[in-house]
Amino acid sequence: MSALPAARRTVLKGAALAGAAGLGAAACSTESKLGHAQTPTPTAPVELGAADEVPVGGAKLYREQRVVVSCPAAGRYKAFSAQCTHAGCLLDKVEGTEGNCPCHGSRFDVTTGKAVRGPATVPLPPVPLKLENGKLVAGPGA
Ligand code: FES
Repeated sequence: MSALPAARRTVLKGAALAGAAGLGAAACSTESKLGHAQTPTPTAPVELGAADEVPVGGAKLYREQRVVVSCPAAGRYKAFSAQCTHAGCLLDKVEGTEGNCPCHGSRFDVTTGKAVRGPATVPLPPVPLKLENGKLVAGPGA
């Protein structure tokens, strides 16, 4: 019973699979591994920092946590996976409310997750998000 979608399972090496189930997020912390994250979203709640770092009407990329957060209006936040749905690269920047994938140029509307430029066609999956003492926490159970 794996939470990983079938498409992602194929790129995981057998030896990494056992670790990915439990400690994958903690193990995946170096920049070299950020190119192709093992899991598209955090596997446990992660603190992102002060909510007011996300500009109202804009968005902020949390690359290490593999999350992008948009703020459509003051006090309202939405989070999506920052892993491109084309071949799994992490978005490298957000311009306004558009996230950019450096690998093949896909762009995503990070207020909805929708792919606005290919080759990706599948939207970024939403990530649970909560506001706790002025800080954003993203991931399952958040
Ligand atoms: S992996 Fe993002 S465009 Fe191909």
